Amino acid sequence: MIGSANGRRVGITGLGVNVPERVFTNKDLEQYVDTTDEWIVERTGIRERRFAAKEEALTDIAAPAAVAAMSNAGVDAASIDLIVVATVTPDMMFPTSSALLADSLGMPDAAAYDLLAGCTGFLYAVVQAYSMVSAGLSKRALVVGGDVLSKILDWGDRSTLVLFGDGAGAVVVEHVDEGGFLGFELGADGGGGDNLWLPGSGSRYFEDADKLVKMNGREVFKFATRVMVSSAQKVLDECGLTVDDVDVYVPHQANKRIIDYAAGKLGIPEEKVVVNVDRYGNTSSGSIPLALADAAADGRLREGELVLMTGMGAGLTWGSALIEWNQGGVAA
Ligand SMILES: CC(C)(COP(=O)(O)OP(=O)(O)OC[C@H]1O[C@@H](n2cnc3c(N)ncnc32)[C@H](O)[C@@H]1OP(=O)(O)O)[C@@H](O)C(=O)NCCC(=O)NCCS
Repeated sequence: MIGSANGRRVGITGLGVNVPERVFTNKDLEQYVDTTDEWIVERTGIRERRFAAKEEALTDIAAPAAVAAMSNAGVDAASIDLIVVATVTPDMMFPTSSALLADSLGMPDAAAYDLLAGCTGFLYAVVQAYSMVSAGLSKRALVVGGDVLSKILDWGDRSTLVLFGDGAGAVVVEHVDEGGFLGFELGADGGGGDNLWLPGSGSRYFEDADKLVKMNGREVFKFATRVMVSSAQKVLDECGLTVDDVDVYVPHQANKRIIDYAAGKLGIPEEKVVVNVDRYGNTSSGSIPLALADAAADGRLREGELVLMTGMGAGLTWGSALIEWNQGGVAA
């Protein structure tokens, strides 16, 4: 699916993030699997990640991010009429995490649903919110992207344990006077789905399913380097823009090598690329909002700047969004 925005402008007016307190360094993981800090840093760029405590579930980590996003936008929870939560690690299958958050945060008028699109979930959910607001069905939406992958990782599998972390982010999506979303590209290839999967997690029967993440790292790496480039190019073409127009590039934080490859192939200079995979690992649906928050914190995310976000993940899925940043530019 590909398209550029038309009609009234819709943008992001608030952003908030949250990560669990517990830090696990690469060295800490050496007690669980046969690995080294040197191997992890060289192959992935990751130095540490956050892991939730036993009693912490997705909504515990996502709620502070949602509150921060609404406060950043200067809006009340009660004014949110749509909440979409992108995650592959909801508190449970049902009630949905979105319904639980709508209740605990105080959104009595909100439609609420969870969305599964692997690590591309946040971008898929942003497209949902954009579409609902621009169609006039929603006046103000909250998009949450977050995962607690530590709960579904195989703590004995070194090829996956070292890559992932837990975290969440949220954005408020509504009409704006200036800037806003310019276009999107989303895609999926279920044919490659078993390169990154969770067999036994649904209604399909699997013998001896342990319900833990399985991954063919090399295949996912090849897929990632391909789609991170093609998706970004497609959305830029669709919007009549080029890589030179991009001020800030926010790629999904899976692996520093994938980010470097994509940025190099696209021709985006290092200073425009947001990288925090070293501190958080791959937080799946939390990755892009966490990177946006870092760019905001270091002063790179300014009003009017063109931001390119591109992600990929389980499904296999991928997606890109282009936005002229307008945080604080809420329409009257
Ligand atoms: C997983 C990944 C880091 C592996 O890096 P790589 O350079 O491809 O490494 P390989 O898979 O070729 O493995 C090289 C060796 O390191 C070993 N290895 C794997 N994980 C290791 C670890 N944590 N520590 C030490 N050695 C490890 C392998 O067993 C292999 O050993 P062998 O040569 O004796 O068989 C890389 O393939 C990757 O990032 N893939 C994409 C994963 C991803 O992003 N998934 C999420 C998408 S949203």
